[in-house]
Amino acid sequence: MSSSTGQSVPTSHEAGQSFPPSRDFADQANAGAELYTRADADRLEFWAEQARALDWDTDFTDVLDWSNAPFAKWFVGGKLNVAVNCVDRHVAAGNGDRVAIHWVGEPGDHRDITYSQLLGDVSRAANYFDSIGLRPGDRVAIYMPMVPEAIVTMLACARLGLTHSVVFAGFSSTALRSRVDDAEAKLVVTTDGQYRRGKPAPLKANVDEALGTGDDAAVSVQTVLVVRRTNHDPELNWVSGRDVWWDDTVAEASDHHEPDAFDSEQPLFLLYTSGTTGKPKGILHTSGGYLTQVRYTFHNVFDHKEGRDVFWCGADIGWVTGHSYLVYGPLSNGATEVVYEGTPNSPNEHRHFEIIERYGVSIYYIAPTLIRTFMKWGREIPDAHDLSSLRLLGSVGEPINPEAWRWYREVIGHDSCPIVDTWWQTETGAIMISPLPGVTDAKPGSAMRPLPGISATIVDDDAAPVAAGEQGYLVLDKPWPSMLRGIWGDDQRFIDTYWSRFADQGWYFAGDGARYDDDHALWVLGRIDDVMNVSGHRISTSEVESALVNHHSVAEAAVIGAADATTGQGIVAFVILRGGVEDTGDTLIAELRDQVAKDISPIAKPREVLVVPELPKTRSGKIMRRLLKDVAEGRELGDTSTLVDPTVFEEIRLRGN
Ligand code: WT7
Repeated sequence: MSSSTGQSVPTSHEAGQSFPPSRDFADQANAGAELYTRADADRLEFWAEQARALDWDTDFTDVLDWSNAPFAKWFVGGKLNVAVNCVDRHVAAGNGDRVAIHWVGEPGDHRDITYSQLLGDVSRAANYFDSIGLRPGDRVAIYMPMVPEAIVTMLACARLGLTHSVVFAGFSSTALRSRVDDAEAKLVVTTDGQYRRGKPAPLKANVDEALGTGDDAAVSVQTVLVVRRTNHDPELNWVSGRDVWWDDTVAEASDHHEPDAFDSEQPLFLLYTSGTTGKPKGILHTSGGYLTQVRYTFHNVFDHKEGRDVFWCGADIGWVTGHSYLVYGPLSNGATEVVYEGTPNSPNEHRHFEIIERYGVSIYYIAPTLIRTFMKWGREIPDAHDLSSLRLLGSVGEPINPEAWRWYREVIGHDSCPIVDTWWQTETGAIMISPLPGVTDAKPGSAMRPLPGISATIVDDDAAPVAAGEQGYLVLDKPWPSMLRGIWGDDQRFIDTYWSRFADQGWYFAGDGARYDDDHALWVLGRIDDVMNVSGHRISTSEVESALVNHHSVAEAAVIGAADATTGQGIVAFVILRGGVEDTGDTLIAELRDQVAKDISPIAKPREVLVVPELPKTRSGKIMRRLLKDVAEGRELGDTSTLVDPTVFEEIRLRGN
């Protein structure tokens, strides 16, 4: 088993470097060591206590029903409204004037939205959604840049018991269509356009292309609701009877809405993520357990102090990090947070630091790829700003290399901020493995240990625990409240993907390799399956491969994630052309890269495309990706003895160099 990140594995010397919490931080921290003790003493009772930090309309009768494993029910019989927990209850507690969202647009426009205003906006949207006949359980697709209306839409869905499916606005129309069809969404919410590096680009046009017309139309969609954002698309297409403006509908609706309570297991959202096969999986999350764990982790891992902290998560709502730590985690805790629409270098590389300075951001949560980008830009950029408001830093999405960890702490965290390296997945819904600031020592590059209430372990092929220093499979050996409840429409795939590897034990197989060091700190080493991690985005090799073979000149393609100093992994594609097709060099390569952007997203464009005469295959016909990785990363070739024709490599190598 090899780590797919190409990250060097810590030596025991490196693993020995540890940053204990400072006395000052520990004294004021939300979490104390007793959290571990309490959770260990009675795990389910511990989660019941965490659930009771939410407002329930009807109390639950059982904490967990695992009788139909792996299909879990948490907080059985309980009823709550997720949006009420995120909005109304803060207004009711007298905090309506507190800013919920400091929103910053890419062109520099900004809006502050208080909890009272948010309640009005969510109520208006809920009233409109109800008026067009949407009913609990119906699906709504959200294809929007990071504008406040996107968050309002998510919360309005939650308020009505609708299931939202956010599709990252960087995804192509093809990707949008497959998600709309799979979920049979009735409503699609979008914007006229979005800003991309200072320029407006159409977005609704992608929706039109995705939804099609006539025989090809997406049959489930009744309404397309359009928020005016760029006001710039001169050719904006309008389908009468289907398309409506937000300004003419939601904005005109009543700002008073009486919410119903829903079952703890009411579906809250679907989020599509890449698996090892081509078709993305619709990961299903429900209400009570999900909200319990995102509230709990936000409070304890980020040490959030209501009314004092300003939180900023740099993720997009198109990913799970945006769902859990931009919407449901912060808002269920009554937090004040920054929501930023644009990229970190628009209009220039100072943008993030200006925002931290302007709003006094105290908790900052980003991905290692951005930290490495900041490192590349140089420390004089953050050094030009007053970042003294920061008191805690978080990292998520991929293993953080120790060098980036140290730079993050020293340059951004003025050598004193604790760093929480948080391991979790779309499927886990919330943070699972992370230090608790003020309690747990932190080591650069290690996610340290499972949170109180969470149980994880590292095992070998035979499910036996691995010794310190040995690499094994990361498994979650006990159910947790925010666990996925299934894959939309495909129970068998849910069982096969996550629960069959260690079926006898009933453990969840995460797909990551990991190891313990001599202090039993846990190091996540990256995916061990055919899933790549590019800038914290999860992309499957087979998805990119099928996009490439969709191009008329490609006969066969093999894709691997090669180590990349900035993005963690970079996509490298090896393609064989069809007979008779002429290799036009750069023109062909540009076409192939565009094909991937069109079928999936620009984020999935290969960093390199190498046209090769042959792919290395075993006698059983399996492509040996390990060898392709060796080539892409410029290493000596590993064992080639199982290849049908070892000489193909000489040829591939010549092209690669
Ligand atoms: C995969 C999940 C969690 C939200 C963002 C990504 C990798 C995530 C870490 C971390 C090492 C990490 C894993 C995981 N990953 N966080 N702190 N250290 N690896 O969610 O798209 O579902 O991807 O991201 O490989 O399996 P996702």
